[in-house]
Amino acid sequence: MADASDGSLLILAGVFAAGCTGPGIFENPDVSARRGLMKSIGKTWGAVKKAVKAGDNKAAGKIYKLAGTISKTFSKNKGGKSRAKPNIWTDKGTFKQRAEFLAVSAAVFSQVHSKSGNKATVAKAMKNIGKNCGGCHKTFRAKKKKKM
Ligand code: HEC
Repeated sequence: MADASDGSLLILAGVFAAGCTGPGIFENPDVSARRGLMKSIGKTWGAVKKAVKAGDNKAAGKIYKLAGTISKTFSKNKGGKSRAKPNIWTDKGTFKQRAEFLAVSAAVFSQVHSKSGNKATVAKAMKNIGKNCGGCHKTFRAKKKKKM
């Protein structure tokens, strides 16, 4: 494990944070990585919903891939402004399981239901994915206090 006293690592992390768009250059890099991942999951989910509405059911595979990186991306906690709740790190097992639920529901959607073209099953599978986002957020994401 790399340790925080390693100066070169800190410099690299700083460059990484500065290179990120959006969160700003002073954000903790771990937080940037986490929020960046969630933002891209959110964006992908939006795209999937839009595609499904337009009759294209092939898009959820990317959510599956991104979901597979959640627990690793959330493995570090060095503080910083974030809505991640501390129970992510005290109850890692449950957090990981929630990430797996999302991955599985996305996989089921992209592999099975999206191909069926059956509107009712597709809708149900989509609902399941949404439930898995909300389920994890409810347990592990702090409520919005004010605009960040
Ligand atoms: C395993 C838990 C988990 C799952 C599953 C999950 N999220 Fe998140 N999400 C979080 C946590 C924790 C945060 C808060 C991160 C922080 O502020 O450091 C978050 C934050 C977000 C954010 C705000 C990002 C920002 O701008 O800071 C969006 C958008 C988001 N999630 C979308 C989604 C969507 C869409 C899904 C489902 C397709 C999903 N999430 C599934 C845990 C999860």
